[in-house]
Amino acid sequence: MTLDLIRLPKAELHLHIEGTLEPETVLELADTNGVRLPFADEDALRAAYDFANLQEFLDLYYAAMATVVTADDFYTMTARYYERAAAQGVRHAEIFLDPQAHLSRGVRWEVMMDGVAAAVADAERRHGITGGIIACILRDRPVAEALATYESIRADRDRFLGIGLDSAELPYPPELFADLWQQAKRDGFKVVAHAGEEGPAAYIWTALDALGVDRVDHGIRAVDDPALVGVLAERRVPLTVCPLSNVALKTVPDLGHHPLLTLLEQDVVVTVNSDDPAYFGGYVGENYLAMRVAGMTDAQAVRLAHHSVDASFADADRKAALHAEIDAFAG
Ligand code: HPA
Ligand code: ZN
Repeated sequence: MTLDLIRLPKAELHLHIEGTLEPETVLELADTNGVRLPFADEDALRAAYDFANLQEFLDLYYAAMATVVTADDFYTMTARYYERAAAQGVRHAEIFLDPQAHLSRGVRWEVMMDGVAAAVADAERRHGITGGIIACILRDRPVAEALATYESIRADRDRFLGIGLDSAELPYPPELFADLWQQAKRDGFKVVAHAGEEGPAAYIWTALDALGVDRVDHGIRAVDDPALVGVLAERRVPLTVCPLSNVALKTVPDLGHHPLLTLLEQDVVVTVNSDDPAYFGGYVGENYLAMRVAGMTDAQAVRLAHHSVDASFADADRKAALHAEIDAFAG
């Protein structure tokens, strides 16, 4: 019997909470908050989900999230993600939040954090989903703004697992943020960064060497550099890979040419994730299904699920429990 990949227990480690806003939620919140959008209805909004590259997606992503205004809205956005995640075997989620994208349009820190953090706490009570929040710095905004945002993160440190780096990758190499990442490590945060999504393998090297990341988000361009693949495998630095995102943003030509399984067989700690599921055609379970169509075996799927636990920031007891759940499910 083939394995039920949707319900297979798993951790999700690369998920932008603002990328979970489904069109109906965007239109509902636009209506409630009187935010004007250049889309007449849900069909018109969905029709805009056709992207030539990362920047085209980001333009829509930032426009749509402007409908999220009150703490209740932040709660609704986040809680709706967890409902879907629970139905797709997600047992642990480390979700990205883009504080600057909200602060820069006048949302107050407490409004954003109270709504998101309440939904994270409810997800554990209601669905048993553990995890937390990783605050992402927008790399295409000034470094000075990143430093100021980091001070707010540090002042609210109990509500974050760590920091990440996202938004337009080119031409913003990781090393622009080396001092900040080193400070965050000294402060006890886990640190990650998007690298090698649209940018080159060189950005993955500097995410490792200048930022000292615990994981690389995307990282698929590692396939261009055999020495880098060797280092990732040897140092056990995980990659949080997002197959449907990569196809939607045209960083790979199609799923048949996706490097995930090549990297898996080269012993890299690759994981499967959804990135911005409302925009890219599926949640994490659908990303596993997509890779089955591209040739992934059930045994590889189970290895990927175990990798998602290994790559998480859960404590050792929680990891052991999650590994046992995967084994019990896979039989
Ligand atoms: N890449 C970079 N930044 C992002 C993404 C992504 O795929 N999604 C949301 N912010
Ligand atoms: Zn991402």
